[in-house]
Amino acid sequence: MTSNPRIADDIPVALREAPPAASKPKVKPIALISGLTALGVVALGAGVLVALQLQRSQPSTATAVANPTAPTSQATNSPTPKTSPAAADTILGHFRYKEAPLSELAAIVSDGSIKLRKSAAQAYREMEAAAQKDGVSLVPISGFRSLTDQDYLFFGKKAERGQVATERAKVSAPPGYSEHHTGYALDLGDGSVPAANLSPTFENTPAYKWLQANAAFYSFEMSFPKNNNQGVSYEPWHWRYVGDRDSLETFYKARQAK
Ligand code: DAL
Ligand code: ZN
Repeated sequence: MTSNPRIADDIPVALREAPPAASKPKVKPIALISGLTALGVVALGAGVLVALQLQRSQPSTATAVANPTAPTSQATNSPTPKTSPAAADTILGHFRYKEAPLSELAAIVSDGSIKLRKSAAQAYREMEAAAQKDGVSLVPISGFRSLTDQDYLFFGKKAERGQVATERAKVSAPPGYSEHHTGYALDLGDGSVPAANLSPTFENTPAYKWLQANAAFYSFEMSFPKNNNQGVSYEPWHWRYVGDRDSLETFYKARQAK
């Protein structure tokens, strides 16, 4: 496979740190026993309420008032949301994402080669201008990526570097599972420190420090901090927009079991 210079490679493998093994949450036995007892009491209470409700053969007004939008069938049997990557639609720690429609994309660089969803593009332009006013140069490296782009980045680079899939997945998402498909995620560099592009050393640049202090004002957040639950390498350059309902659902619903 030949390399495609149009697609920025976000995997400078030699520079990456291996993510540490996820540590299991520690639960004290006494806390576990009290928790289970409390759960039992709640379940017993709920059971009694259901029995009483059935006996009356009428919908409970108490339930309706406490949870006016809950469908009656779910009121006594609500599913527990699961947030573990293993429970959702994932592969090798990466969540599944749909490709943004091309009609929804807008350019964030003057030659039009890097695009984001319109809402994210607007917020990004404002953020870039604010950074510039503070003397900081934010430079987009990569935005929206198609499944074909990501196929090359995952399988093409994997073959070039002789990596196994599990190793590759720590530094790159398989096609269909990249935040870049959504049009809400982008990789940023510092115009004054190009050597730090797509490297963990980006965290030492003025651009990163500015982003840490200001990105939330523009609804951008870092997707892969150190020791993230997904087991993906630390990516201080990769930020995602969560400033409207669609973007928020895109990233946070993906973290629930389907
Ligand atoms: N670069 C990250 C892993 C992504 O493509 O989602
Ligand atoms: Zn990225």
